[in-house]
Amino acid sequence: MITRSNKGLIAALGLLLSSMAAAQLPELGSPSAASGGSTTARFFAGASADNGLSFSDTFAFDQPVDITGEIQVETAHVGTVGNLYLVVQLGEDLLIRNSGGEYIPWDMDIATLQATTVGKTLAATEPLTIVDDVALGPAGVSGVTFSVFFAYDTEAVPGELYYSGAPLNVTVNVQEETQAQSLTLFTQNISSPIIQSNCIQCHVSGGLASNTRLVYARSTTPDFQTLNYNDLLDFVRTAGSTLLINKPQGIGHGGGTRLSAGSADLANWIEFVNALEADS
Ligand code: HEC
Repeated sequence: MITRSNKGLIAALGLLLSSMAAAQLPELGSPSAASGGSTTARFFAGASADNGLSFSDTFAFDQPVDITGEIQVETAHVGTVGNLYLVVQLGEDLLIRNSGGEYIPWDMDIATLQATTVGKTLAATEPLTIVDDVALGPAGVSGVTFSVFFAYDTEAVPGELYYSGAPLNVTVNVQEETQAQSLTLFTQNISSPIIQSNCIQCHVSGGLASNTRLVYARSTTPDFQTLNYNDLLDFVRTAGSTLLINKPQGIGHGGGTRLSAGSADLANWIEFVNALEADS
């Protein structure tokens, strides 16, 4: 119910949300002029995975990212005609974005620099969108630092170029290997409490079940967890999951009942075998 007092609260929340949405783009340091003179131009840029609510410099491989920039041109240049430039450094490679929006290699020679926005009347603030909702890892940008520089020039000062001396740096992490769910369950709930403390009494070289398809490595063997997990994976692939579910419950098992009805171990075992089947 909307009452007088929570109306005030809603209005306050609205204000808070709109101020959050307008989170200020971080400013890039060292604004510079190519001639070596000083400039009052300012450069801002940020990378965000939440539509600009917050900015970050590191992103996951497949996280969609927005990268935006803003050039505040010198007051004297507002209303003059100029060009906007975007230079990207990817590892060792420098790229410029041309007016067609394509990224082309650049040799750092000012003579070959191409503008991304050509011949526009400069406003006090010039926004630039570098990427909009793009997952950079799948786009081929991961494991390297990705830097973005901005620049502009104006017909009012021929031959001069104003640029962000410090770039926006963005790191996109390489893709993590996702571990199979069944392997996680195996190391957490199965290996020690069930295999090593129970089944291995017989399912081991020289044991009562040594001539079955399940002969485990003891915990003194290097990589015993991987070996035993792979043994079980092979078993499911060739024989399915029924024997694995039934035998330890004492159904037609030479070793009798090893996991009793209603026990946590049995529940964990069944969950693991189902995950193993899904991963096989
Ligand atoms: C007291 C000894 C003993 C223990 C402990 C034991 N088993 Fe067995 N298990 C056997 C014997 C003997 C066989 C072979 C006869 C048979 O198929 O039942 C066997 C066979 C099996 C088989 C069939 C293997 C194949 O190649 O077809 C499965 C599956 C199995 N056991 C699961 C388990 C699990 C899971 C545990 C631990 C929770 C366990 N066993 C503990 C004695 C044991």
